[in-house]
Amino acid sequence: MLSKEDNELLCRVGPGTPMGDLMRQYWIPAVLSSELPNADSDPMRVTLLGEQFIAFRDTHGKVGLFQNNCPHRGASLFFGRNEEAGLRCVYHGWKFDVDGTCVDMPNEPAESDFKSKVRAVAYPTHERGGIIWAYMGSKREPPRLPDLEPNMLPDGEWQLSIYQRECNWMQALEGDIDTGHTVFLHTGAMAAGDAPEGSWGKVALNNRAPQYEVVPTDIGVMYTAHRPADEDHVYYRIAQFLFPFWAMIPTGVLGLEIRARAWVPMDDHHTLALTLSKAGARGGTPRGNSLNFTETYPNGTGWFDRFRCVANESNDYQIDREQQRSMQSYTGIPSIFLQDQAVTESMGPIYKRWEEHLGTSDAMIIRTRRRLIDAARALRDNGTPPPGAEDPSLYGTRSGGIVLPRGVNWVEATAERRKAFVTHDGLSREVLGGIPAV
Ligand code: FES
Ligand SMILES: [Fe+2]
Repeated sequence: MLSKEDNELLCRVGPGTPMGDLMRQYWIPAVLSSELPNADSDPMRVTLLGEQFIAFRDTHGKVGLFQNNCPHRGASLFFGRNEEAGLRCVYHGWKFDVDGTCVDMPNEPAESDFKSKVRAVAYPTHERGGIIWAYMGSKREPPRLPDLEPNMLPDGEWQLSIYQRECNWMQALEGDIDTGHTVFLHTGAMAAGDAPEGSWGKVALNNRAPQYEVVPTDIGVMYTAHRPADEDHVYYRIAQFLFPFWAMIPTGVLGLEIRARAWVPMDDHHTLALTLSKAGARGGTPRGNSLNFTETYPNGTGWFDRFRCVANESNDYQIDREQQRSMQSYTGIPSIFLQDQAVTESMGPIYKRWEEHLGTSDAMIIRTRRRLIDAARALRDNGTPPPGAEDPSLYGTRSGGIVLPRGVNWVEATAERRKAFVTHDGLSREVLGGIPAV
């Protein structure tokens, strides 16, 4: 449960809000490289942290991210002419390069130096691993990009999936740090007998009320859900929250999984779920660089017209009551992503957390909220940089499952396996028993 005041502080990310200021200390994945496919391609509208921007790729391939309104008299730069290494406002012809420098002001006398006094509000961008990152902070020298392993793989080895969720970013993220729902929402229709003897899937399906342990880390919060695997061993599912909006889920095998998910706030009520992973890692069928298996509408040009799911609130997420009734599926909702989508959107745009009733299985959510709220206050009141904002190396970590002998300290025992950029021989996903989301 949170007070109304803390709930507001946690969720709101617009300019000048404490959480919005916190997020602006970090590089933000703003746009996919594929959304600006070539030099001088169409400018696009981008809603990010409650602000409106226009993104474009110039003649040299560089990406600009401008505040929507032209600094002259405010016409939207969306209509601009993207030509000859700059974006030209179509109202009076002022032209800006990707840094926001005004390079042409054709309606002023040639001898005027007014153009040297005007700039478009432009934010630094950096492109890596199919993602255009934006830095909206105030530092003249932005930090390095975070050392996120799935974003640092060579081209051809990374994959992205992206969907829009119509609710607050934190509500969406809380689904990713709530592993306990997996054996209900996603695999509730499966019996332990459906999983092979000795598999981790069977262990998970056999015991749907694991125990939880939560520990703080330098970059956020880590937790495990654990249950006995046999008399001498314990099965741990380990997952992480990383500032400001990253989740590493516990699915799979610790040491093999190279993935992370960002819950990027478009505004307080719309969020992009951007999953970065190593190509083919989950045994899926890669389609180019996209892992989008849930159907989306083609992107349009509107402020929220990106990566919207065809199954949504208006069609009850395509729920099939017969499948639900007959236990072919616990929910009757077609995909794991849509199942998460339905429950988190159904809470309303920003859930009234003062009405909830948290149990022991919500320990990770409680700690993560507290960590975020404390960090936002420390930044606001004392100027303290939030975790990882100035140390990109802290992002070099992993999540997943592991079986350990009973009685060992799981944090110490998994230190090596949690390190990114390490190859482990002899690990296999066979142990999962083919159960999804385990
Ligand atoms: S409003 Fe853009 S040039 Fe005048
Ligand atoms: Fe889920």
